[in-house]
Amino acid sequence: MRGLFISLEGIDGSGKSTALTTVLERLKKRYKELTFVQSREPGGNLIAEAIREIILNPDYKAMDARTEALLYAASRRQHLVENLLPQLDQGKVVICDRFIDSSLAYQGYARSLGIYNVLTINRFATEGLLPDLTLYFDIDPVLGMERVKGRGKKDRLEEEGYSFQQAVRKGYLEVVDKYPERIVVIDASRNVEEVAKVVEEKLIQAIDCHYGKGE
Ligand code: TYD
Repeated sequence: MRGLFISLEGIDGSGKSTALTTVLERLKKRYKELTFVQSREPGGNLIAEAIREIILNPDYKAMDARTEALLYAASRRQHLVENLLPQLDQGKVVICDRFIDSSLAYQGYARSLGIYNVLTINRFATEGLLPDLTLYFDIDPVLGMERVKGRGKKDRLEEEGYSFQQAVRKGYLEVVDKYPERIVVIDASRNVEEVAKVVEEKLIQAIDCHYGKGE
């Protein structure tokens, strides 16, 4: 049986990685027969990580927006071929920290390349593959940036500041409108445990529905 593909989305500091770490432990205990894989974009293998270093390097201020979009798509392609597709073929639950919607919100909307244009290059990269479920962690950028503050050196995207994060959030909300059946909005302004609880519920629903349990 084909696996289940879930992506997590949100602006920087939305708390998706923290929530995932907490929830993943609980899910592994609950579903001992399933294999869970945690992945992240950009990255996930040698080549994709190398592309990640180029994209996020704070020294590369001259990077053109289309170059940036193409590099994300390239990294996505390599991750898909080397990691995602084989894992899904093996029936695993793959939870990916960011996927195509990040490109639609960050490059398509916030970098003003156009959501449709960025979707087009990503369709080429992914051959149309979309997550079965996407959890979008919605949060005010003021709070998001507050959370990111203590994390040390900022990457090139994090250095963009409040108005950029605000634009990314707007972009995400447009993407949510476009794919209401795939994307679930999570209120990420709540505390860590509350957010983790909602995430856990949504993931249990999706897993039970996909693997035919709890019917
Ligand atoms: P990362 O440190 O992985 O961010 P986070 O921990 O918030 O997930 O860095 C990824 C950065 O790249 C983040 O600022 C979002 C951005 N990004 C895009 O702009 N487009 C994309 O397609 C992806 C996958 C990420």
